Amino acid sequence: MKKINIALVGLGQIGNYLFNELNKKKKDIELKTGKKINVVAISAKNKNKKRKFKINKKIFYKNPLSIFKLKKIDILFECIGLSDGISKKVVEIALKKKIHVITPNKALISKHGDYLSKLAEQNKVNLEFEASVAGGIPILRTIKEGLATNKISKVYGILNGTCNYILTEMENSKQSFSNVLKKAQILGYAEPGNPKLDLNGYDAFAKIRILSSLSFNKNISKQNCLMEGIENIEFKDIEIADQLNFRVKLLGITELINNKLFERVHPCLVKKDSYIANVSGVMNAVILHGDPVGETVLQGEGAGPGATSSALMSDLLSILRGNIKFPFGLSNRKRKFVSSYDLNKYTNSLYFRFEVNDKPGVLSQITQSLAKRKISVERLIQIPDHKNKKASIIIITHKTNELDANKCLKLFKTNKNILKVPTRIRLF
Ligand SMILES: NC(=O)c1ccc[n+]([C@@H]2O[C@H](COP(=O)([O-])OP(=O)(O)OC[C@H]3O[C@@H](n4cnc5c(N)ncnc54)[C@H](OP(=O)(O)O)[C@@H]3O)[C@@H](O)[C@H]2O)c1
Repeated sequence: MKKINIALVGLGQIGNYLFNELNKKKKDIELKTGKKINVVAISAKNKNKKRKFKINKKIFYKNPLSIFKLKKIDILFECIGLSDGISKKVVEIALKKKIHVITPNKALISKHGDYLSKLAEQNKVNLEFEASVAGGIPILRTIKEGLATNKISKVYGILNGTCNYILTEMENSKQSFSNVLKKAQILGYAEPGNPKLDLNGYDAFAKIRILSSLSFNKNISKQNCLMEGIENIEFKDIEIADQLNFRVKLLGITELINNKLFERVHPCLVKKDSYIANVSGVMNAVILHGDPVGETVLQGEGAGPGATSSALMSDLLSILRGNIKFPFGLSNRKRKFVSSYDLNKYTNSLYFRFEVNDKPGVLSQITQSLAKRKISVERLIQIPDHKNKKASIIIITHKTNELDANKCLKLFKTNKNILKVPTRIRLF
């Protein structure tokens, strides 16, 4: 039976769990692939750190780069994280040394995926990153293999479990964003130190870039076409959305409009009876439109050591079963550049919430500004706060384009009766 040497770099939440899985599932892997795996090197920053699962200190390397000098490695798992620095270096060296690489690192792949996949192709090894998008949901392999000959026109979904948990919990517990964020941090659903990259849409955008690339056979895009997070969503918005029969969800969306690529991540108002509105808590879901397959939906746990390790193990088995595969489904030479859709042309209905001084004439000032940019009102709700002589004005517009909406928001900035930047949520 062929023996396969494995190195595992990074023993944090994911790496440590994976180490345990690799040892636990050896027999199953042998049965399914005919190959015997052996973890011959592990690496993390701190050798003496207490970890959830026992590690073998005899094979521990403080510097992951020294592994290459001392051991013969066939497959390397990179589980450190971040787009640059040591994680990029380890992956780069491994590929150049003709070692297969598996990583859950979406920051690395969304930034350097084109370059690294070229390296993998030149060196005739695999670079697998199923776990980088939507955790345990096998969406990348579904696009690359299960739906290989479909013409995909649109992919969208809930790609960040932290944000989905916060929005769901705000609705259920009727608590503020900051209270629910604290709860998410205690439960381990949000980073304790700096949860910014989840909350501002960056994490979901990195995943959208990878999805676009695979779905449309193109290079990874470099522009942040439209990236907004959930930091400005207040409980008030969730409550009003509920009254209007909507729910607020952070969606990642990528589609081709007239052969132009339109990638975006932003909070959306989705109809309560839609499928996506009912994906709750830390769950992720991806919905894909393909021809001839039609609409395909995949839902599951988008993060956490169990779900992520499940995807990492599927990458491992794919490599062990043989064949060198192009990381993005086709040769780099064949992947094309697709220019971006002009965001200003994007037309949509909008939800605006204005916090204003409760004075006569303020409402008409707002509607006049909207009319100036040819934005018409479909629904209007006014919620007075008599005690503080303030009011919330909620407007749902008819379809309008981003250019007019942005110009209108600029007009509001100069209005002293509007007390803060209005909240805008796009309808989906
Ligand atoms: N957590 C999730 O639910 C999840 C889901 C999907 C994908 N991912 C991705 O999985 C990757 C790992 O995430 P994680 O949550 O496991 O991160 P983590 O808990 O912060 O673990 C990072 C690991 O890297 C090690 N490390 C840091 N610098 C190092 C260096 N210079 N040399 C060697 N090791 C070093 C750390 O060592 P010490 O332990 O000694 O500090 C730690 O073991 C990231 O790319 C992340 O985006 C995570």
